[in-house]
Amino acid sequence: MERTEVAAHRIYQADSRLRSSYQAVMGACEATLLHADPPYCLLVRRNKKGRARSPKRAKIDNASVRRFETVGEYSRFTERWMRPAVACLSADGHAVIWTNLLGRDPILEVATREGLVHHGTFLWAKLGKAGNSGEKLARLYEVALIFGRHPRPEPAPEDRLPPRHFVSGYDVEGAASQWEGHPNHKPFSLLEPLLRWYSAPGDVVLEPFSGSGSTAAAAVRLGRTARALEIRAQWARVSGERLQAVVAAQQAAENRGRSPSSEA
Ligand SMILES: C[S@@+](CC[C@H](N)C(=O)[O-])C[C@H]1O[C@@H](n2cnc3c(N)ncnc32)[C@H](O)[C@@H]1O
Repeated sequence: MERTEVAAHRIYQADSRLRSSYQAVMGACEATLLHADPPYCLLVRRNKKGRARSPKRAKIDNASVRRFETVGEYSRFTERWMRPAVACLSADGHAVIWTNLLGRDPILEVATREGLVHHGTFLWAKLGKAGNSGEKLARLYEVALIFGRHPRPEPAPEDRLPPRHFVSGYDVEGAASQWEGHPNHKPFSLLEPLLRWYSAPGDVVLEPFSGSGSTAAAAVRLGRTARALEIRAQWARVSGERLQAVVAAQQAAENRGRSPSSEA
């Protein structure tokens, strides 16, 4: 089993549906931010006779992408990982949970049952290729549901408001291609406003679905402590290698007395 520990950061190959996985990766820590990028609610594709379609013809076909028989099965999956994850969240912590349209209601329902309060939605729109006139269209691609432990206080007129959207290309910083091209990679510039708003330097950021390690890498770059789980050996290894690289880049920059110029 892949396990990476660098400074206070940890990424373990483990199943995020098991309480024991969180006990191992969190130790005695609590997370200020639970940032979760779970598998989306994609259903098994069937032909007219009810047989599962050949994965070769599926639009999204990748071993890292899991498909569910029904939305109910997705709800049960959500409940299994969310309950132990929320148990790690501090009394004033927040949860940011990514989803597609079909997964929105199951996640809202399970989060509400687990005692979280919905604070709003963050939208990620992706830019397409430029047309003849140079114009680019942005397509709403994914959303993150934001939750707190308590209702969001009414903002005063002078208050800054939380980030609500981000528009970008898919792999703006080139990190997806650098780290084996995970099909659901999230760029740093997308994660940055969320991590900055919902956690502070020194806080623990917990990611139960590490993939290629984007959340952990962003957490380290922003001075947070990263704790993450990933079930697949390949992605646990990639996440671990990326964690080591970003910590080394951070330390080298600190030794030089300036910020790192590029993401690891
Ligand atoms: C949506 S992707 C995360 C992508 C990630 N944000 C990135 O930027 O690379 C979900 C990941 O969760 C992993 N996963 C699925 N089920 C899991 C489970 N029960 N426990 C831990 N990881 C799981 C998958 O292998 C996949 O890598």
